[in-house]
Amino acid sequence: MTEPVVFLDGRVRLYRGDCFDVMATLSGADHVISDPPYEKEAHRSMRRTQASIRDGVDADLDFSAITEEERLAMAREATRLSRGWVLLFCQAEAVTPWRDALEAAGAKYKRSMIWVKPDSSPQFNGQMPAMGYESMPLAWAGEGHSSWNGGGKRGVYTHCTNNKDRHGGHPTEKPLSLMAELIRDFTQPEQTILDPFMGSGTTGMACVRSGRRFIGVEKDPKYFEIACERIRKACEQGDLFLNPKPAKQTGLFDGAAA
Ligand SMILES: C[S@@+](CC[C@H](N)C(=O)[O-])C[C@H]1O[C@@H](n2cnc3c(N)ncnc32)[C@H](O)[C@@H]1O
Repeated sequence: MTEPVVFLDGRVRLYRGDCFDVMATLSGADHVISDPPYEKEAHRSMRRTQASIRDGVDADLDFSAITEEERLAMAREATRLSRGWVLLFCQAEAVTPWRDALEAAGAKYKRSMIWVKPDSSPQFNGQMPAMGYESMPLAWAGEGHSSWNGGGKRGVYTHCTNNKDRHGGHPTEKPLSLMAELIRDFTQPEQTILDPFMGSGTTGMACVRSGRRFIGVEKDPKYFEIACERIRKACEQGDLFLNPKPAKQTGLFDGAAA
């Protein structure tokens, strides 16, 4: 683990290293929102993303699948650190193991939401329906009743994987619009969001753009560099957005002939 890269006077802290080492040094965050590696079968070539197929990457994902030991450790640390929500991504088949792990850690499992992907890969062999969504198990780790900003809204989020905001440097990059909607629904401005598996930093970008604080961790130096660059740019734009220069006001008769 190295010293964090810091932006916006410490509102954003990015650690390159193993998230379990980093989380052991943290005392808390308002929410944990993260996209951990999926299970082994999801990492096989047949489950590659549309983007990796388009870009001709003919290999399994280049980061390891999650182990049961890591799942338990992640659930334990996320529950210890979060003062509110623990929101994770996983394949549909992994909702139950995540639910069991989060409950064993002491969090209150609420339900699993879905991210619908209208442009997901078709089932090329035609032998069964293609997979068109991913799951998002949701648990409350805070005191008292859970609360969010969505009122009676359904936990169904529809966003295309290929869109104009896509960086393309990470094989399982989440859409920025999806992360922005989740951040809006589950967090408040100025709160701190922790993403221990930040990949190319999409959660961090969504946090910065909406005035949230962010702590991110990524162990692969290549993805860490991409995350730093994307979040740095978002900070430059976000700073303008959060502290706009006052517009010069012109009087009604400025420039009028005397
Ligand atoms: C599913 S990807 C996250 C992608 C991310 N949501 C995005 O939009 O780019 C999971 C990431 O976790 C990283 N990772 C895996 N194990 C890790 C660990 N123990 N500590 C930190 N990062 C880890 C992988 O290198 C990978 O980039």
